[in-house]
Amino acid sequence: MRENEQRSSLFRKKPIASGGDNNSALKRALGPLDLTTLGVGAIIGTGIFVLTGVAAATYAGPGLVLSFLLAGIICAFAALCYSEFASSIPASGSAYTYSYTAFGEVIAWILGWDLILEYGFASAAVASGWSGYFQTLLSGFGLELPHALTSAFSPEKGTYFDITAAVITIIITFLLTRGVKEAARANGIMVAIKIIVVLIFIGVGVFYVEPTNWQPFLPFGISGVTAGAATVFFAYIGFDAVSTAAEEVKRPQRDLPIGIIASLAICTVLYIVVSLILTGIVPYNMLNVSDPVAFAFEFVQLKGLSWIVSLGAITGITTVLLVMMYGQTRLLYSMSRDGLLSPVFSKVSGKSQTPAVGTWVAGIIVALFSGFISLGHLAELTNIGTLFAFAVVSLGIIVLRKNNPDLKRGFRVPLVPLIPILSALGCVYLMTRLAALTWITFFAWLIIGLIIYFAYGRHYSHLNPARRISSAFRAKDK
Ligand code: ALA
Repeated sequence: MRENEQRSSLFRKKPIASGGDNNSALKRALGPLDLTTLGVGAIIGTGIFVLTGVAAATYAGPGLVLSFLLAGIICAFAALCYSEFASSIPASGSAYTYSYTAFGEVIAWILGWDLILEYGFASAAVASGWSGYFQTLLSGFGLELPHALTSAFSPEKGTYFDITAAVITIIITFLLTRGVKEAARANGIMVAIKIIVVLIFIGVGVFYVEPTNWQPFLPFGISGVTAGAATVFFAYIGFDAVSTAAEEVKRPQRDLPIGIIASLAICTVLYIVVSLILTGIVPYNMLNVSDPVAFAFEFVQLKGLSWIVSLGAITGITTVLLVMMYGQTRLLYSMSRDGLLSPVFSKVSGKSQTPAVGTWVAGIIVALFSGFISLGHLAELTNIGTLFAFAVVSLGIIVLRKNNPDLKRGFRVPLVPLIPILSALGCVYLMTRLAALTWITFFAWLIIGLIIYFAYGRHYSHLNPARRISSAFRAKDK
């Protein structure tokens, strides 16, 4: 009776043993290097290559480096929490699965629905940034697309659909349905190119720094630095996507924390150096362009290198798209396998061993978002969704330590509860720095999610006792 009450409760929890470790149909092919590559692939992209310029020019000035430092510290705390969860509950679905175990179904649903927003909108935002760079490159060759198809829906500007963003999304979707190892291999090559380009920027750029460009260092004060941090936070998103791969990892308890922490550490160091050099080369008020990193080389008359950086940025942004969309499909896979979403998303196709139909459904929706919605709006929505997820995951560590103290953990967050609390507070603080419209859209998204949960997921959930009894009867009848 008691158990039944628990099971029909909104807070029914998934037992840790059924975290999906053994019943996975996905192929275990990834090691620590694959995961770190996956992480770096997901992290370095539109944030550093595009949003840095806006953040420096409109918010932080040369103090951009402090914005990166602040966002990086908050992400480091969150990454520690993600690592402990990933090493104790190595199941596909990341934060969604963790909260199913720690907080119960309704919270897991809210978080899962929130993560659909994060990965979906992040993918669309990244595709949109990709399109901007690609079109600049095309125009260098004298090629122009019809104006109506160059940008998101904005009739007053005469643009209706960003066709390039939609097409790249469909190409990546196709690649993902070919199988995870194949996608990881293509990703590895592109990540290498991206890191080389960033290192070229650092190695050459350092000789063109004019220290006078760092004066004044904080033209918009500390509040500019924090608003800048809420924007460049986007640049760090992605390390969490590593944990969505849990069921395809050979030794998840050891390798997931390595992948998460190593990829974040590498990117933080690179970002801090790049932002210092960028604001040292170009006066901050000239950085509000769509390709700031390439622009810096153009500014000091290094045209050839500027072109190489553009090409590297396009490649780099492609890998982000690949990993974000991969994360999206694996999240949908987990939620569907738990009965909360349509079974279409967990149907694994025989040959490629990937959830191919679900991947196509998600890919087409993301392609439409990227075609119709503007980059700025997509990026802010991604940030609010991600910050919310990070805050819930961080608090989840405290709950998991209390409720499951004996759980085998491959990695433990130091100084609990201090670090999880600092992480959650930091995330909520950055959320408060985002626009009111972003908050409204975010709440609307969550409300739609709750309606879907009560109309569908709650009934079809595999933890719903009524559903189990009816399946048992059906099985008997056969
Ligand atoms: N961190 C990823 C990027 O900057 C989302 O593109």
